[in-house]
Amino acid sequence: MSQQMLPAGTLQDQVAIITGGGTGMGKAMALTFAGLGAKIVVASRKLENLEATVREIEAAGCEALAVATDVRDPAQVANMVARTKERFGGIDILVNNAAGNFVAKSEDLSPNAWNAVVGIVLNGTWYCTQAVAKEMIAQGRGGKMVNIIATYVWNGGPGTAPSAAAKAGVLSLTQSLSVEWARHKIRINAIAPGPVATENTTRQLFGGGDLIEKMSREIPLGRFGEVDEIANAAAYLVSDYANYVTGTCLTVDGGNMLNKGYLKYFDKMPGRQ
Ligand code: HXC
Ligand code: NAP
Repeated sequence: MSQQMLPAGTLQDQVAIITGGGTGMGKAMALTFAGLGAKIVVASRKLENLEATVREIEAAGCEALAVATDVRDPAQVANMVARTKERFGGIDILVNNAAGNFVAKSEDLSPNAWNAVVGIVLNGTWYCTQAVAKEMIAQGRGGKMVNIIATYVWNGGPGTAPSAAAKAGVLSLTQSLSVEWARHKIRINAIAPGPVATENTTRQLFGGGDLIEKMSREIPLGRFGEVDEIANAAAYLVSDYANYVTGTCLTVDGGNMLNKGYLKYFDKMPGRQ
């Protein structure tokens, strides 16, 4: 289990669905939440990855369920919710973490390529959010949601335009619904991670030679993020310690997004040589 920031029992008996919980940050969040006492449902397409997460959680003496789900399909999302209720009786937490992304020239994107990314990130988040919110409203005990976005929602993502557009839509949903569903005591926040070298992102985005090293030099804190750093941020947002926090986005990127000033050229400026 990962190292925990919050006291043991912080999420005791809370039922948490984590989409994309078989790999990367989703798996780290599943392990962290379980370590804090939550009952975990991991949902994505590849059952073998989900089952591996479940085995790790069960080996630590906690409870977990794997539900094969393509979040682009509302019927599969409905099944995810039904299986969660059947096993654990309700839902307290949803993390919309599932995503698809690749680097491509926008002029070459086929309609299918656009739909593949936007379908997972924006539509998938919406299907899961609405299906879970209906349950939370019916349960009458509130709920917590966290949407994993990316810092390029604020300044665009050249080369990953469909992902940036879809994540910007997810930020907007976070803001709209946090106000609309506050009356139901549902809190909704987002996390914008900076670059994190997970297995899939290393293969699809960062894997080329010394790219990670080069990119790290551009990050004020000098390194990529770790999955546990994102998991701890998410654990805080779904915990009672964040009971007055809703509709916001927590950026966890080592200062990367803000690194736009002239400091890096400082020594080359007139009078500084
Ligand atoms: C151009 C591409 C492409 C590429 C796929 N397509 N890869 N086009 N360049 N590199 C096109 C295909 O040709 C096809 O269009 C369409 O996309 C659908 O492809 P499929 O392989 O059939 O889709 P699918 O099996 O649904 O897979 C979805 C996927 C895949 C997004 C393409 O990469 C995936 O499953 N990813 C999940 C994991 C992942 O991406 N993780 C990274 C998250 S990191 P045609 O027209 O040919 O049919 C992240 C933020 C990073 O999100 C932020 C960094 C700072
Ligand atoms: P990852 O391991 O690839 O996680 C993405 C997950 O989404 C996978 O487990 C995948 O599982 C699942 N998924 C993809 N398509 C799906 C679908 N149609 N239905 C259900 N699940 C689907 O990548 P990660 O780096 O941990 O990313 C986690 C989150 O952080 C994502 O939202 C990503 O956009 C965001 N993010 C990552 C970075 C980074 O640098 N790593 C930076 C900013 C934001 P299956 O293949 O089993 O479906």
